[in-house]
Amino acid sequence: MLINTKGLTKVYKMGNIEVHALRGIDLQIEEGEYIAITGPSGSGKSTLMHILGCLDTPSSGTYLFRDREVQNLSEDELANIRNQEVGFVFQTFNLLPRLKAYENVELPLIYSNTKASVSEDRAFKVLEKVGLQERINHRPTELSGGECQRVAIARALITNPKVIFADEPTGNLDTKTGNEIMELFSSLHKEGRTLIVVTHDPEVSSYTNRIIKIRDGILT
Ligand SMILES: Nc1ncnc2c1ncn2[C@@H]1O[C@H](COP(=O)(O)OP(=O)(O)O)[C@@H](O)[C@H]1O
Ligand SMILES: [Mg+2]
Repeated sequence: MLINTKGLTKVYKMGNIEVHALRGIDLQIEEGEYIAITGPSGSGKSTLMHILGCLDTPSSGTYLFRDREVQNLSEDELANIRNQEVGFVFQTFNLLPRLKAYENVELPLIYSNTKASVSEDRAFKVLEKVGLQERINHRPTELSGGECQRVAIARALITNPKVIFADEPTGNLDTKTGNEIMELFSSLHKEGRTLIVVTHDPEVSSYTNRIIKIRDGILT
């Protein structure tokens, strides 16, 4: 199994106030699934995605990622998972504005000390895969929103991860462009990748094979 959680909770402490963002999540996801996590704003979608992607740790409960108990992994092991096994796509793209498209895309390889000639070559290939072969030298300000999101998807793909987590990936895009991004995700799913897409848009979740609903930190 890819993802197996039991009783996951997350409490954010802000001074004297505790925010119970997740209140006992039991979730199983198999390799190769295409999943939407939906729910209203503030229901815990991003918190859950960050924990599943090993960007954050739960307050209690257990999380097995590919049969490894995440709580028992070292910082290095977690960093390796984040860098090699999962890819992330965010609503606001999170591109570095001064870097060209291909330079943004090759960043994950630079962080893992890949030779420049190799990482550039890989960046060109994944940019071609997302349909941006004509835009490799453009900076984010010289690209449309949909193109920026394709660059971000190429960056997520460059380490060839099995799993892609996307948090409201179409939230800043118009409907047509958003649908094009979901088509791209569908083609990645057909290649055998696991996709987990957080959204509150029913049109977006209709592309997926399973919808997980969350409300007030609980799956419904
Ligand atoms: N870093 C944080 N510190 C404190 N509270 C947070 C933090 N992140 C999220 N929250 C709170 O946790 C709850 C769930 O947030 P979030 O997971 O971002 O929901 P969603 O993505 O569904 O909108 C909300 O009440 C939010 O205000
Ligand atoms: Mg969110």
